[in-house]
Amino acid sequence: MKLAVIGTGYVGLVTGACLADVGNTVTCIDVDEAKIRRLQDGIIPIYEPGLEDVVKTNFAAGRLKFTTQLSGAIAENEILMIAVGTPPNEDGSADLKHVLSVARAVGDSMTERKLVITKSTVPVGTGDKVKAAIQERLSARGMNIQFSIASNPEFLKEGAAVNDFMRPDRIVVGCMDEYARKKIEQLYAPFILNRHPVIFMDIRSAELTKYAANAMLATKISFMNEVARVAEAVGADIKSVRDGIGSDPRIGYHFTYPGVGYGGSCFPKDVKALKQTSHELGLDLAIVDAVERVNMSQRAFFVKKIESHFGGTNGIKGRKFAVWGLSFKPETDDIREAPALDVISRLLQAGAQVAAFDPIARDNVREHFGAAHALQICNDQYEPLAQADALLLLTEWKLFRSPDFDRVKSLLKKPVIFDGRNQYSLEQMRDLGFKYFSIGRPAV
Ligand SMILES: NC(=O)c1ccc[n+]([C@@H]2O[C@H](COP(=O)([O-])OP(=O)(O)OC[C@H]3O[C@@H](n4cnc5c(N)ncnc54)[C@H](O)[C@@H]3O)[C@@H](O)[C@H]2O)c1
Repeated sequence: MKLAVIGTGYVGLVTGACLADVGNTVTCIDVDEAKIRRLQDGIIPIYEPGLEDVVKTNFAAGRLKFTTQLSGAIAENEILMIAVGTPPNEDGSADLKHVLSVARAVGDSMTERKLVITKSTVPVGTGDKVKAAIQERLSARGMNIQFSIASNPEFLKEGAAVNDFMRPDRIVVGCMDEYARKKIEQLYAPFILNRHPVIFMDIRSAELTKYAANAMLATKISFMNEVARVAEAVGADIKSVRDGIGSDPRIGYHFTYPGVGYGGSCFPKDVKALKQTSHELGLDLAIVDAVERVNMSQRAFFVKKIESHFGGTNGIKGRKFAVWGLSFKPETDDIREAPALDVISRLLQAGAQVAAFDPIARDNVREHFGAAHALQICNDQYEPLAQADALLLLTEWKLFRSPDFDRVKSLLKKPVIFDGRNQYSLEQMRDLGFKYFSIGRPAV
């Protein structure tokens, strides 16, 4: 099949590359000229395990192309997938300007039947807006051309995106006609040989499914963070509690790890957008509201732990902290809404010095903060530890699971670790002689 993917970010690039990998011819389009130039030069603009190989192989085979020319790609391809960003507006609602500008461009350029599939995460009702935007431009041109719209929200996880796309748990599709249904069935047939289903529904339900999925996952995280606070207060161990509840298949183990809260480009913005949509409808989503509040307060809760150990906010002033992990989760360079950056900002504001290491996200953080920023970013894992008052573990990269603890101890001023991801056992920390604080477990 021949198709165009508009927006070449985490979702668009993975989608385009994976669809090309099963034999389709895919044109990826982006407004970011530098990004497209780099891709044409074989440079992958994001870190995503396995992606580079898929992109390079399919680019070399001529099945994957990169361009900034949207109108040409619209003319040449029957299937158009929208994967542009939908960042939050000030009020938390999703900003649809990129999605709708693509829809208008489709209406401006199409000369024959098209299927427009929205992959971006968009509020319920966006399908109608996309349809209206295309129709409006077609009418302005005096054209009467048939087109179909569909919603196909993406569920890939950064860090495992290629695998998720290639072997999806499920593919959700909202569409209104047989033409769209057949085309999409054909498009995804190579990916469901594992028998996982394509679930067809109406467009509004598909749009809501994406928000419900992310809000449910965020709810699990915030819920466990709240229980972890109780565990700490009563002297219980959240790890045992997690083992105890997770064995119930109705609850399960996934997404029940307490920590410094969720981040990334999806959960924070999608929870906000769902809240905003419900406010506009006059609905008060108490749970969703609380999920966001708990998430933000979890970062403050972690910083409070550090303050308490050093004798309050003033005790932090002038101290040096070493941070391991900056990306919002392991195996990605994505730092959007990363809890680590929030924790670091709070420490810097309190007058501390911070030196940090991350195996992949360093350059993005340097770019994000600018050269003059007080955060020192190190290229070596052990460099930030020199003369630091404590080590803070904020992203659970595998590299941090079994470090050289003797070296850690010898470099730190005193052997103190604040672990925001519960990576180490209490027993091991006690035996090694660390003062060790984690989440929902007793300090040792
Ligand atoms: N990142 C994820 O893990 C993930 C997972 C599922 C769904 N989503 C959703 O997918 C969408 C894209 O997310 P992302 O993380 O890939 O975003 P991203 O910011 O990485 O990429 C978006 C790309 O769209 C491009 N763009 C913007 N306007 C454009 C236009 N008019 N024409 C062509 N290109 C344009 C941008 O330059 C950028 O490269 C969002 O709605 C997001 O919520 C993201």
